[in-house]
Amino acid sequence: MGISIRFLQKPLTDQQRCALFGWDNDVFQAARYQLEWQPKTAHLLLYDDASLASHVGLLQHRVVVDEQSYRVGGVGGVVTLPHQQGKGYASALMEEACRRMAAWHVDAGLLFCRPQLQKFYSRRDWTMVTAPVTVHQAERIIEMPVQAMVKPVNLAAWPSGPVHVPGLPW
Ligand SMILES: CC(C)(COP(=O)(O)OP(=O)(O)OC[C@H]1O[C@@H](n2cnc3c(N)ncnc32)[C@H](O)[C@@H]1OP(=O)(O)O)[C@@H](O)C(=O)NCCC(=O)NCCS
Repeated sequence: MGISIRFLQKPLTDQQRCALFGWDNDVFQAARYQLEWQPKTAHLLLYDDASLASHVGLLQHRVVVDEQSYRVGGVGGVVTLPHQQGKGYASALMEEACRRMAAWHVDAGLLFCRPQLQKFYSRRDWTMVTAPVTVHQAERIIEMPVQAMVKPVNLAAWPSGPVHVPGLPW
């Protein structure tokens, strides 16, 4: 059977969630930030034979930079099961995510990642947002403590101003 990639536009099943995220109590090492995240609305799943091996979550959102609205493809929940890591699966899904975002005609991709993963994304042509990024949390607006990275899709370059996400981060 080999490798196959499936695109779902519905929530993951409990079984899929458990397989992807249940192997560690803090898979993304993000618990320390105590943030509320929004669920992704689409999912790329990579199967090695019939076995679920890797995942990238996607959603579409609007963000505001310098009073101008931009459509972004949000990327999150990037994970490969431990015994399947190092085989290029997350890289393959990130490439597929970029193809999906191009099909959505978004201006850019936008993701949040911890410092250890910045090189992984920068080697795949994502760049750091150096301006502050604000997001919603319950009743508050906060400056995002996790690094944002962007990848232009239908833009020559991402604008340099502060970014506001009118919603929860992803
Ligand atoms: C990061 C992760 C998704 C990579 O998945 P993968 O299928 O092994 O990735 P690939 O085989 O396509 O690529 C391996 C790359 O991941 C990097 N990587 C793997 N684990 C890493 C870690 N803990 N910290 C930093 N980079 C890591 C490797 O250095 C390699 O980078 P390179 O190809 O640019 O040299 C996987 O290690 C994982 O699920 N980690 C836990 C969840 C997580 O941290 N997700 C990212 C949230 S932003």
